[in-house]
Amino acid sequence: MSKVDIKNITKYYGDVLAVDDVSIEIEKGELIGLLGPSGCGKTTLLRVMSGFLEPNQGSIYMGGKDVTLMPPEKRPTSLVFQNYALFPHLSVFENIAFGLKVKKLPMEQIRKDVKEILEVIDLQGIEERSVSQLSGGQQQRIALARGLVMKPEVLLLDEPLCNLDAKLRVETRDHIKRIQKSLGITSVFVTHDQEEALSICDRIVIMKDGKVLQIGTPEEIYGQPTSKFAADFIGKSNLLNGRIEKDEKDPNVFILESGQKVKIENEDQYFGNANVLIRPENIVIADEPEKCSEVNCIEGEIDYITYLGEVTYYRVAISKNEQILTSVYGKSDKIWEIGGKVFLSWKSTDALLIKE
Ligand SMILES: Nc1ncnc2c1ncn2[C@@H]1O[C@H](COP(=O)(O)OP(=O)(O)OP(=O)(O)O)[C@@H](O)[C@H]1O
Ligand SMILES: [Mg+2]
Repeated sequence: MSKVDIKNITKYYGDVLAVDDVSIEIEKGELIGLLGPSGCGKTTLLRVMSGFLEPNQGSIYMGGKDVTLMPPEKRPTSLVFQNYALFPHLSVFENIAFGLKVKKLPMEQIRKDVKEILEVIDLQGIEERSVSQLSGGQQQRIALARGLVMKPEVLLLDEPLCNLDAKLRVETRDHIKRIQKSLGITSVFVTHDQEEALSICDRIVIMKDGKVLQIGTPEEIYGQPTSKFAADFIGKSNLLNGRIEKDEKDPNVFILESGQKVKIENEDQYFGNANVLIRPENIVIADEPEKCSEVNCIEGEIDYITYLGEVTYYRVAISKNEQILTSVYGKSDKIWEIGGKVFLSWKSTDALLIKE
């Protein structure tokens, strides 16, 4: 399977800069996630990789070969489109078999491959149905099957699960991961859904306004986001504004907007305005200051509660303009209520300084 090298790709649509000098190296057999808000250039980058769009600048290498100007059908890629792009008047079989027929494989082989791939996506025996008679989620799985059946070296998936319900989404994403790993297909997976990206991708690329902001493993992206945007985009976060003052002497003291001081780890001895990121699950909530288990202990009042079954989120106002979100998993011994006075604490090592 191919290693993919995206080198300084830039793509304009007229005056619109959709992809801005993007470089990503994708290892053989790796599953890379492209994650970013609507309009940040994910689909455009995928289309450049598949050959449906020509970039204005930059090159794409697959397996060491420059494919930048190669037409889509000559590339070792399969693209699963965001909007399925199925042939509505054709049957499920005809849709999935399309690429195999173009390749002029024997009919017997085509039937076998189509049957097998329908088993993989759990839609056995519907070969003769017209795709227009299928639900949105089923059509999405047919589009996925059409890509997978070609056994591509590089699989490009543009939001392949966006029309599935929550349970099927999880099942199908695990399916994709299993197939992808068992066949060793180098894959690029576009998604809006951060949980999806964290759960199945080997590495995640965070995109914004056509640019790459950060590339890293799910643990790196979640644990050490390098920008406010990445911190906020992935997972739930508390991003507190404040500063580190030179005359404070201790560079590990962070002063919140409200003037309250908290301890952080400031290895680079940075001074100036910054943000501190604390994930809700790293905050301990207590009803007395003596129960604050960590160095930082801040008083506040619960102003909002979100109960989600397995987890409850408490938003705590620590000043007029500052709130901190904390989460309690499972059943809590204590029932907290809106208006309740509480104390929040967290380790200084769980308070990540974001200088941007
Ligand atoms: N054919 C086109 N002509 C002009 N501008 C386009 C065209 N296609 C996309 N764009 C613009 O390029 C930018 C990137 O679009 P793209 O479709 O790559 O975003 P995306 O990240 O895939 O978004 P989404 O998550 O909504 O699918 C957007 O500003 C979009 O409006
Ligand atoms: Mg898109």
